[in-house]
Amino acid sequence: MSNKAARNLFIYGSLFFFVIFLALTFDTMGKLDKRAPEITEEVNAGKMVWHKYDCIGCHTIFGNGSYFAPDMTKTAEKKPKEYLKKFLMDPKAVNPQASMPKLGITSEEADKLIAFLGWTSKVDTNGWPPKPILATAAGVAGRELTGGQKLYQSLGCSNCHMVNGIGGTTAPELTNVGSKRDKAWLTGHFKNPSAYVPNSAMPAFGNLSEKELNDLTDYMLTLKQEVKK
Ligand code: HEC
Ligand code: HEC
Repeated sequence: MSNKAARNLFIYGSLFFFVIFLALTFDTMGKLDKRAPEITEEVNAGKMVWHKYDCIGCHTIFGNGSYFAPDMTKTAEKKPKEYLKKFLMDPKAVNPQASMPKLGITSEEADKLIAFLGWTSKVDTNGWPPKPILATAAGVAGRELTGGQKLYQSLGCSNCHMVNGIGGTTAPELTNVGSKRDKAWLTGHFKNPSAYVPNSAMPAFGNLSEKELNDLTDYMLTLKQEVKK
């Protein structure tokens, strides 16, 4: 190759890739904003409260923080606001076994935190954090699930409850609930939890049909295993 050809290759080659670099940069910048919803004043105020109580000293969020407590990025996605509010203000009122301390969060602060966590849950994180595989949560792999087990999965009970080691930790474990409660209690509790447990943080499932309530209760009554500690 002559000197001139080499120089031209260098100049036009560099130019060519610089143009591609610019185009990709503009493309990425255009997409970035759409990955997160708008930051309102309340969301911003919630982030301040998040810092005030040093939540990151125990929790992770967007991958940053401590591994003592569950990741918060998508918490608000599947948990009702009323439940989160009760938990934030007094964790042990939701679950006597909760290890999160009562931090003294006020009602307004809880609302702001929930707005902030609602925002983080809507940010497109490309599937992160990975979701646990709940296929075997209700039954044994490979066995047909009963109606009650299917409802247990589709209604998201395992977001809060644990059965045989799979599920959430902030509500009572259900592995042995069949030995503890009877049919009437369970059915009534599904329709209106706080009529049975004062100030219950469990959402009511009052809009289920009689058959669905029956199926779910029947499933609960099969859960009679000693919980190994
Ligand atoms: C001293 C450690 C600690 C601090 C500080 C802390 N948490 Fe927690 N948090 C926990 C633990 C542990 C859990 C898991 C449930 C349990 O055992 O209490 C939890 C659970 C939660 C849950 C319920 C998650 C679920 O799956 O239902 C929310 C929401 C939450 N924390 C939000 C916060 C926020 C917001 C702050 C800051 C204002 C905060 N936490 C500060 C330890 C902490
Ligand atoms: C947002 C969290 C949440 C969801 C979702 C949830 N629960 Fe609960 N559940 C709780 C909390 C908190 C309690 C403790 C207070 C109470 O007993 O009402 C509870 C209590 C219970 C109890 C009584 C346990 C005992 O030992 O007395 C049963 C049974 C139960 N839930 C079943 C279910 C089923 C089945 C579903 C799905 C249809 C479900 N829960 C969905 C939070 C939840």
